[in-house]
Amino acid sequence: MRHVRLYVNTRQDLLLRTRCVKTAMLLPRLKRRRWKTLILQVFATLLLLLLLASSLRWKDRDVDDTCPVDPPNLTGPVNVNLQEAPVLGDVSMDHLDVTFGGYWRPPNCTARHKVAVLVPYRDRREHLHIFLNHIHPILKRQLLDYGVYVIEQYGDEPMFWKGLLYNVGFTEVLKNRSYDCFVFHDVDLLLEDDRNKYSCSSSPRHLSVAIDKFNYTLPYKQLFGGVTLLSASHYQTLNGYSNLYCGWGGADDDMYLRLFHKKLKITRPDKTVARYKMMRHDQTKLNPYRFSLLKTSQDRYGHDGLNNLHDMDYQVVSVHQYHLYTHIAVFVATRKIQATNRLVTNSTD
Ligand code: BGC
Ligand code: MN
Repeated sequence: MRHVRLYVNTRQDLLLRTRCVKTAMLLPRLKRRRWKTLILQVFATLLLLLLLASSLRWKDRDVDDTCPVDPPNLTGPVNVNLQEAPVLGDVSMDHLDVTFGGYWRPPNCTARHKVAVLVPYRDRREHLHIFLNHIHPILKRQLLDYGVYVIEQYGDEPMFWKGLLYNVGFTEVLKNRSYDCFVFHDVDLLLEDDRNKYSCSSSPRHLSVAIDKFNYTLPYKQLFGGVTLLSASHYQTLNGYSNLYCGWGGADDDMYLRLFHKKLKITRPDKTVARYKMMRHDQTKLNPYRFSLLKTSQDRYGHDGLNNLHDMDYQVVSVHQYHLYTHIAVFVATRKIQATNRLVTNSTD
């Protein structure tokens, strides 16, 4: 303590003065102590807040219900029964959890992707029933939020216009729902292993790598047909499929060329899981003009596809939600492929 000089008259006076001085000296100490307490309190509050925030973050993690990347219920190899076509009513009974229109989403987690499966179709009822019976359980096990769409060609036009149907399907589907990606699926292909995932991928994906018809080998490196997967935005960038291919052959090769020109790299799952059985059917009519069309693909793809659908003579007759799929009926007017081809040749001369 510092020495204090005091001038006193009486003893009492002295005592009083001494007390006052002591108190006066204590005051700064008290103030300091109060500051210390205040700082401590602030620290404690901050710590508490920090702890609270981190516990909330953990809680958030607990309630993050995104479905796992590797769905736990996948079986690997899938039994493919080609012997008997199931009755659609029975298939329906097996899938009471599928919403009318062919929609399903995992009940216990939020799917990572919203996927539309587009199936162009005509005259293959038996194949369609087998396909539906086969695909729904697989898509469910893969924990996808999905919808199955069958795009059926109507009218007397003898040729099947697959690319046009895909473009019409894509456009119609997006009018009512949003999807992250699209699977373009031949109706006659049945997946043999559910580890071949139909979930969205950042690059275009060729899924039907190994088909029994080709002895489970890829016939050629550029093949992009059968079952493919594209994000909605990639499909738009590519301007969809060409509308000009009909019958058998070429439409998928044209899509490969579009991908090539847009420098979009194709990925493929391992051929040990990307296995398919193809249901047998009569050979569809060959398109005699497929090679000449392919030659002009590069000059055409900017104005032949999604962006000139309005010029294609077709009509969406009905969109109907059946239990296991949404049916899009498309009337395709009779057309002469020679005329179509000539049109193409002229426009690119
Ligand atoms: C055709 C394609 C077909 C492929 C495999 C090619 O010659 O042009 O459309 O997907 O063969 O069958
Ligand atoms: Mn086929």
